[in-house]
Amino acid sequence: MQDNTLPRDGQSILELAARSMFELFANASEGMLLVDREGRVVWINEQYKRFLPALGFQNVDDFLGHPVSEVVQNTELDRVIRTGKPILIDLLSNKAGTFVVSRIPLRDEGGQVIGALGIVLFDHPETTLQPLIHKFAHLQRDLDDARRELASQRRTKYTLASFVGGSPAAVEVKRQARRAALSSSPVLLLGETGTGKELLAHAIHAASARASGPLVSINIAAVPDTLLEAEFFGVAPGAFTGADRRGREGKFKLAHGGTLFLDEIGDMPPSLQPKLLRALQEGEIEPLGSNKVVPFDARVIAATSRDLGALVREGKFREDLYYRLNVLPIRVPPLRERRADIPALVEVLGEDMALRSGSAPPELSAEAIALLSAQMWRGNIRELRNVLEQAAMRSDSQHIEVHHLEDVLRESGVKRIAPLAAVAPAPAGDALRPLAEQVAQLEREAIAAAMTATGGNKVAAARILRISRAKLYERLSENQAMTGNQTLRAV
Ligand SMILES: Nc1ncnc2c1ncn2[C@@H]1O[C@H](COP(=O)(O)OP(=O)(O)OP(=O)(O)O)[C@@H](O)[C@H]1O
Ligand SMILES: [Mg+2]
Repeated sequence: MQDNTLPRDGQSILELAARSMFELFANASEGMLLVDREGRVVWINEQYKRFLPALGFQNVDDFLGHPVSEVVQNTELDRVIRTGKPILIDLLSNKAGTFVVSRIPLRDEGGQVIGALGIVLFDHPETTLQPLIHKFAHLQRDLDDARRELASQRRTKYTLASFVGGSPAAVEVKRQARRAALSSSPVLLLGETGTGKELLAHAIHAASARASGPLVSINIAAVPDTLLEAEFFGVAPGAFTGADRRGREGKFKLAHGGTLFLDEIGDMPPSLQPKLLRALQEGEIEPLGSNKVVPFDARVIAATSRDLGALVREGKFREDLYYRLNVLPIRVPPLRERRADIPALVEVLGEDMALRSGSAPPELSAEAIALLSAQMWRGNIRELRNVLEQAAMRSDSQHIEVHHLEDVLRESGVKRIAPLAAVAPAPAGDALRPLAEQVAQLEREAIAAAMTATGGNKVAAARILRISRAKLYERLSENQAMTGNQTLRAV
């Protein structure tokens, strides 16, 4: 049976469809908003009014007349006017919630865009799109959480108080770090692995005027050479196709207003060294695929465990870059030059271990501490921590004795550096040792501190100590003979 009420000619069908569609939109809509050619809000319907408080407006008159992009966050209506292309269905999130919306350009007789209509479609919970909106809102929340997490990682983990040590060498390093924090020149942290360079970088940032800004780290050794340039300087939008089409910000940019920590700078590939030098010299960077330079505002702290001077001599590190970075060099002394700090470090590391494992902190006998103080510690504090952790696992209680340590030390290949007697535990043991031994130890520590303070310059060290150069050389060679050529090697 045919239904005679339906039209059969094209024009009438279109008119009927248009009318039905309009009614559908009008009924399904939770609100409509009209903007003019300039993108200003000129009209909203009754239903739309209930969004106004959430958008920050009390009455309609305050809302009308504003550019829509200023009063409705994340709207795309201005784009619809610019391009003349509708966005038939989209999700919009702003202060008022998440909605399914439709945006249609409005044209005059001649086809010119004269405005656009924004329609908020069904925000009823019972509509079928609700699960989709939920999922979207959920993803959005996850993204916000991830962003917050990232931001908190960029805050400082350590302050100067985290750098444990009261030995002359440790005190000197902290003094230099405090001074470096007052300046905005590049800092270069030099020291063996595990000596606390990263900790100091954090601490310098935290003590500086930039403490409220981000601390952004990049481990140059851990990023493939081919990706480093993009990591450093970022990628301009459209420089590549695919995932990077939108562009990406580089670490220099991310560190804006804060500190950029260039870890393992000695591993900087030669091809990128000129670009880093230029950035440091000019205070400007050029994102990949862009032909514009942009200024950056980040304080640079670099660190390496490699001998940068030697790399320069071998032609592997540019001399001009070396001087650019070497404005405020800080030599972080190895643990064997500040053995007096070992008891305090054992205590702090033990407490930290206990906190993580939920057990009681380890207690070491005086002999056990003395044994630790007599080791070479090539891996420095990291190695000390590792040995402590292993010894704690071998002990049935929280007490750690010499025999627990001896096994661990032997198995991990930590070398002994001095006869035990020479490093007997301070301070209780100190008074019970021959005076000459104690004086000799004090001398060794004073010389080590002076060598640290002067970056290994023997002439300057002798001057500080008010001893002759000959005497300093004599003491140094005595110490070297005693400690297997390592303790006081000049840098
Ligand atoms: N003075 C210190 N007091 C307390 N903990 C320290 C101290 N120095 C270093 N540490 C700890 O020792 C570990 C190694 O330190 P860090 O990572 O800063 O060393 P690094 O010099 O950067 O080593 P690498 O060259 O191997 O990267 C870290 O867990 C750090 O917290
Ligand atoms: Mg490090």
